Amino acid sequence: MQPKDRIFVALDVPNLPRALGIVAAVQDQIGGVKVGLELLTSVGAPTVVEAMSASGLPIFFDAKFCDMPNTVAGAVEAATRLGVAMMTVHALGGIPMLEAAVAAADRAALLGPRPKILAVTILTSLTWEALGQLRVAPLASEEALQEYVVHLACMAQQAGCHGVVASPHEVAAIRAACGPDLTIVTPGVRPAWSVRGDQQRFSSPRDACEAGADYLVIGRPITQPPPEIGTPAAAVARIVGELA
Ligand code: C5P
Repeated sequence: MQPKDRIFVALDVPNLPRALGIVAAVQDQIGGVKVGLELLTSVGAPTVVEAMSASGLPIFFDAKFCDMPNTVAGAVEAATRLGVAMMTVHALGGIPMLEAAVAAADRAALLGPRPKILAVTILTSLTWEALGQLRVAPLASEEALQEYVVHLACMAQQAGCHGVVASPHEVAAIRAACGPDLTIVTPGVRPAWSVRGDQQRFSSPRDACEAGADYLVIGRPITQPPPEIGTPAAAVARIVGELA
């Protein structure tokens, strides 16, 4: 895989013209696009996916489904029929929900391409202090949090998920526990020159890849680059250079 193929740009924008503008500016320099809750809710999933398909780039459908198995299965079938490459469900939805999601993708893919089902472990915006506020009792330290994320990743793999989404801090431990076949996607990627924003458990693009990540989801450092970097295209070029 070329360094550029690892980069999925997170299109966290409220409308299609802005999303298409970013895609047009960087489409030759990236591996795919990630569409998430803001765009899917503002514009509508079928419209978004159809518009993004014109770029020919793989589409990562990040709606982070978490509901009853039957409900999630219906949503996964619908997203599979749209023709996306990867989609997310929450690992915390539990094993029956994860199994239902994988089975639904398999069913719907009989008529087209089969997307990868990725389980989101713990959001990269949550620190272990924040998890303490939620009274997730065993997560009283950074080490315990990492152990828990690895547990969720192994559980999702056993439920049939093709990959997981996790912070760069947990990638190496997940890779060691789950082996080379599990796809690991990591958001929480921040080049040294970018603004951290609400990301808490982040690292540089290069460190994330060296830890064993397959794909990097990068949003604001590309879509809202700092003035000294200039444009989204310049930001991607810089990141690809750092990965090479
Ligand atoms: O702008 P930024 O690079 O922080 O965007 C990160 C993207 O990754 C966002 O679209 C966010 O929804 C997503 N994400 C995340 N943490 C997860 C899963 C997805 O930040 N655990």
